Amino acid sequence: MGHLFNRNIIVGVSGGIAAYKSAELVRELRKLGARVKVVMTRGATEFITPLTLQALSGEPVHIDLLNEAAEAGMGHIELARWADALLIAPATADLLARLAAGRADDLLCTIALATPAPIMVAPAMNQHMWSNPSTAANIATLMKRAVTVIGPAAGEQACGDVGPGRLVEPEHIVAQLAESFSAQSLAGRRVVITAGPTQEALDPVRYLSNHSSGKMGFALARAAAEAGALVTLITGPVVLSTPMNVERIDVVSADDMLEAAQLHGAGCDIFVGAAAVADYRPATVSGQKIKKSEDRIVFDLMKNPDVIATMAVMEQRPTLVIGFAAETEKMLEHARGKLLKKSLDFVIANDVSRSDIGFNSDLNCVSVIDHTSCTELPLANKSVLAKRLFDMLASRLS
Ligand code: C5P
Repeated sequence: MGHLFNRNIIVGVSGGIAAYKSAELVRELRKLGARVKVVMTRGATEFITPLTLQALSGEPVHIDLLNEAAEAGMGHIELARWADALLIAPATADLLARLAAGRADDLLCTIALATPAPIMVAPAMNQHMWSNPSTAANIATLMKRAVTVIGPAAGEQACGDVGPGRLVEPEHIVAQLAESFSAQSLAGRRVVITAGPTQEALDPVRYLSNHSSGKMGFALARAAAEAGALVTLITGPVVLSTPMNVERIDVVSADDMLEAAQLHGAGCDIFVGAAAVADYRPATVSGQKIKKSEDRIVFDLMKNPDVIATMAVMEQRPTLVIGFAAETEKMLEHARGKLLKKSLDFVIANDVSRSDIGFNSDLNCVSVIDHTSCTELPLANKSVLAKRLFDMLASRLS
């Protein structure tokens, strides 16, 4: 929780019955040393008075976008820049829809558009409004844009219904916010990550490959660098830009990837194999373009080296070796098999038969399996998941 000390937090409050809980939220944040400015929608002021939130935050409450006096004090752009995080709790269905549409029709939505800071929303609404496909689509859109969604919790609702839609308790919201300001948990650690597909040449113009976009590996590299690690990212051909403070090594084939992994990964603290390495390569590579004269063509393929399994048994073995298991059936069983067969410390398993997650998607949900346990990380943007993974790995290292 120490991570909140001296942080600038904008608490956005929208107009739902749970708005009264934002008083508790502001109080908790202040107790932990955060500086808090509250931005309310007009609807929110019907549920809780600005005076209450002003007294608890110790700062004037901001409500209007087009207000000369307010803009002369701290205008919407200054507020957006001031924030280290924007936390909207409660976030009503209407607020989520306006955020997803990128509207700027009140102060809170305008700040959400203008701020470079991470955004978290804690939805609260009637259970049918929550499960309505419109709300679900808005939530999916926001998650794709790396907005963190906290909850909602399930239980008895103000309207008498029982189901999902309750605001998560303020203390848990605060805990998630604090977690997002992770300390430099990997400061000084060496992390090596493989990402993307490999391409195995058939001739000078053709190759065998697969559908990996590299997004998960790149998100992992960014998260590790943000946590203070010295990161080397060994990537097959992808169309992604290199995260800040990450050393990037471009490779093409599985053989190239293995060579780079052995060179850079020997003795490192964490080695993560997020690449989708081609399992086989053509036994011979034609020096000239293969002509399409035959009706059938047969290629002789030979097995590629297993990069991660080689790293896991090398003399200067990385302290932790983490593999991925992209499965279409019996996910946990196959993932556990890989953990043992490849001598890994963790396997991160995901179900690639689902069209909403995995390959090419910005979202993923995974199970993290080690030799004694299995931890589910629920559906989230890949960058949020990457951060959670490294939090787990950092505590294992220490
Ligand atoms: O055996 P499978 O391809 O499902 O294993 C997936 C894990 O193994 C991933 O972490 C992947 O990066 C790694 N792998 C590898 N070299 C291979 C095949 C897979 O490092 N040749």
